[in-house]
Amino acid sequence: MAGTKLFPTKVVGFREFTHILIEDTYFKENIMTVRLGDTAPDFTAETTQGTINFHEWLGDSWGVLFSHPKDFTPVCTTELGYVARIKPDFDKRNVKVIGLSVDPVDSHVKWEADIAETQGTPVNFPMIGDGDKKVSDLYEMIHPNASDTMTVRSVFVIGPDKKIKLSLTYPASTGRNFDEILRVIDSLQLTAKFKVATPANWVNGGDVIIGAAVSDEDAKTLFPQGWKTVKPYLRVLAQPK
Ligand code: BEZ
Repeated sequence: MAGTKLFPTKVVGFREFTHILIEDTYFKENIMTVRLGDTAPDFTAETTQGTINFHEWLGDSWGVLFSHPKDFTPVCTTELGYVARIKPDFDKRNVKVIGLSVDPVDSHVKWEADIAETQGTPVNFPMIGDGDKKVSDLYEMIHPNASDTMTVRSVFVIGPDKKIKLSLTYPASTGRNFDEILRVIDSLQLTAKFKVATPANWVNGGDVIIGAAVSDEDAKTLFPQGWKTVKPYLRVLAQPK
């Protein structure tokens, strides 16, 4: 069938997915894989801040959608406390953050009291209640060979055009580095504005690289301040303002 994708898979329950058997192997059919440059799948979900339609809620902002394996778990508790603490850093970059855990909203609300008590900052962004795993499935946040029931730690950064700009997958046992997410957002926002790329371990304010597709002739117009040619393909300049 045109547009149908088939993935070999372990059968983990049928939820809304179709599994078909071909010569002793089950294939998962029509699963949407969310890749860079794709439109972020839209959804309407219950959250700790009421019903949210994702695309409407994003409006013209950037967005970060990040998943948690389960409520009342220790690593997640520290992650949510940290994101709450640095929310002003997301705000000043025009980024809205939204969390998800595969438990219902009333469970999230109880958990948030513990997060405020132990992490020193109340959760100040919506948390999606995903008891039916609708959003987790939409974004492929459940990796059945890691766990049939819990989501992995996914992070999606979404641009104002609703396209996926970054996708990260961490195991349940490893808490994420949200300063790294801010660093990537700085790079994404800079490179959306200027025809540059950012080198290894770049942080905001550091030197950048002229994009490979930009000719020297075009670069003269785009970057009249000049640059240093280390190799013809490696042209370095101070971060444009
Ligand atoms: C945690 O958040 O601590 C956690 C959750 C699921 C599995 C392992 C750790």
